[in-house]
Amino acid sequence: MRAIFVAVAILFVTLGGKAFSAQGLSPQQATPPQIWESREEMHDDYVRRFESAAGFGMSRMLRPPMLDRGGTLDTGRSRYAIEALELVGHLQTDTPAAYVPTAHDASLRLSFDSRALTSFETTALAALRSGNQLVSNDDGSGGALAVMGALRAKESCLKCHGSRKAGDLLGAFTYRLRRIAHD
Ligand code: HEC
Repeated sequence: MRAIFVAVAILFVTLGGKAFSAQGLSPQQATPPQIWESREEMHDDYVRRFESAAGFGMSRMLRPPMLDRGGTLDTGRSRYAIEALELVGHLQTDTPAAYVPTAHDASLRLSFDSRALTSFETTALAALRSGNQLVSNDDGSGGALAVMGALRAKESCLKCHGSRKAGDLLGAFTYRLRRIAHD
């Protein structure tokens, strides 16, 4: 059963991707893969994508612009590719967790699992709650980079997240990046 769910989800994502690329993005118009010069720039870009995606909360993570991992973080010294990007929620659960989408069932309702935060993510979330916008940590060897960035309420969010005020932390994105060779 679970395998069927996953198959449907993959189909959905694949079709979603096709529909997106078919929406008038001719080869001439297609934008080249994104290059961000800083972690902040990368995070701001995904916050914008999330804000303009249809749906609520986790379901926005499955929209093509959010699923696109084609960009490169190029800090000048190092280049990184995104290995994973997940939404961290702390509104619906007592314990903050990262959401991992599992499937859409026949009615296209989204289901997801959650996983416990890593120790970096726990520390980073505390820093975001106390006002930081972005926290990152490399593994010492420079091969991997973990980044967590805040998702804060704007005026446009408050019509639904009415119990919050502008600037409140609604969630966070957690990124795992992997160093890649310079061209
Ligand atoms: C049209 C109503 C609506 C608007 C506008 C809206 N949200 Fe939400 N949001 C929801 C609903 C409903 C949920 C719960 C979704 C669920 O249960 O899967 C949610 C969930 C979330 C979550 C997941 C929270 C958690 O811990 O599970 C985040 C993060 C979030 N919204 C951020 C935002 C941000 C940032 C904005 C503004 C840019 C925004 N939302 C605007 C309706 C909205």
